[in-house]
Amino acid sequence: MRILVTGGAGFIGSNLTKKLIDRGDEVVIVDNFNDYYDPQLKEDRIKKFLKGYKFKLYRGDIRDEKFLEKIFKKEKIDKVVHLAAMAGVRYALQNPNLYYEVNVLGTQNMLNMAVKYKIKNFVYASSSSVYGNNKKLPFSETDSVDNPISPYAASKKANELQAHVYSHVYKLPTTGLRFFTVYGPWGRPDMALFLFTDAIIKGETINVYNRGKMSRNFTYVDDIASGIMTVLDKNAAYDIVNIGGDKEEKLTRFIEVIEQNVGKKAKKKLLPMQPGDVPATVADIKKLRKLGWKPTTRIEQGIENFVAWYKEYYKI
Ligand SMILES: NC(=O)c1ccc[n+]([C@@H]2O[C@H](COP(=O)([O-])OP(=O)(O)OC[C@H]3O[C@@H](n4cnc5c(N)ncnc54)[C@H](O)[C@@H]3O)[C@@H](O)[C@H]2O)c1
Repeated sequence: MRILVTGGAGFIGSNLTKKLIDRGDEVVIVDNFNDYYDPQLKEDRIKKFLKGYKFKLYRGDIRDEKFLEKIFKKEKIDKVVHLAAMAGVRYALQNPNLYYEVNVLGTQNMLNMAVKYKIKNFVYASSSSVYGNNKKLPFSETDSVDNPISPYAASKKANELQAHVYSHVYKLPTTGLRFFTVYGPWGRPDMALFLFTDAIIKGETINVYNRGKMSRNFTYVDDIASGIMTVLDKNAAYDIVNIGGDKEEKLTRFIEVIEQNVGKKAKKKLLPMQPGDVPATVADIKKLRKLGWKPTTRIEQGIENFVAWYKEYYKI
């Protein structure tokens, strides 16, 4: 299969690209290498992490329809994994229009192309953030997600609605994956694991929101990639699926494991809850399990892998 991966220089996209090529798929990457975080990390995912791997790379923006049209025309794409987006809840509150343009209009462009070029399956990144402040845990796909609490969450919910329209009207097979806090090597510098590891190594203070009373189903990036491939192969007519680790971890435990791996105690600054953030995201993953997927990596192993990568990459 020839798979177009948007956001392929990103954290999840680069990991997925590697696994797709390993199993014999061909990959075409689209990414604009924007500077939301250090673009050098994106360049290095392409140059170093994907070294020796053969794929096509297009540098450009999913907001640019002409640019996308050229690629679809030329590349004979079978399926799409659409991961390009402005991610990050906190930055969205400062830049709501940017999130709307990239996440909503950009996705609209991708859906238009998918229909026009008869794509066999369109898998895209939604997010656990669509569950907002829902009180019922674990979060299940059948729960109401009508109360997002950040522009980011609203954009992801919008993507699910956009996909529904295209599956219904044009019979485009679509699956939205609601990712739960993804972590692992080559991870994003704006996310907790990276920020905490970096600060602990440098002896700096870490900000611990909601005074540490947070919990997450952390999901290792390899498990995310295998989950994407699971739904990519199914070609569901229209689906929304949670993808998360199988253990609810307390933030305090997460920090403890980082400390053990770095070999240093964290200096913690306990802070109140951040606007737009949620105290607990716990995934009900029965649906994806039924499709044959299971998470395999616990935080003890995943964090060890991350810290090892971090030290090597930053030559510490
Ligand atoms: N990492 C997580 O925990 C998590 C959780 C929930 C959902 N998601 C979603 O998964 C997807 C991938 O996330 P990630 O963690 O790999 O983030 P990432 O920022 O590392 O990857 C996104 C990539 O998309 C590219 N991109 C952004 N805007 C673009 C545009 N206009 N045109 C072309 N390329 C563009 C970026 O340069 C980046 O390389 C995103 O849609 C994100 O919202 C991630």
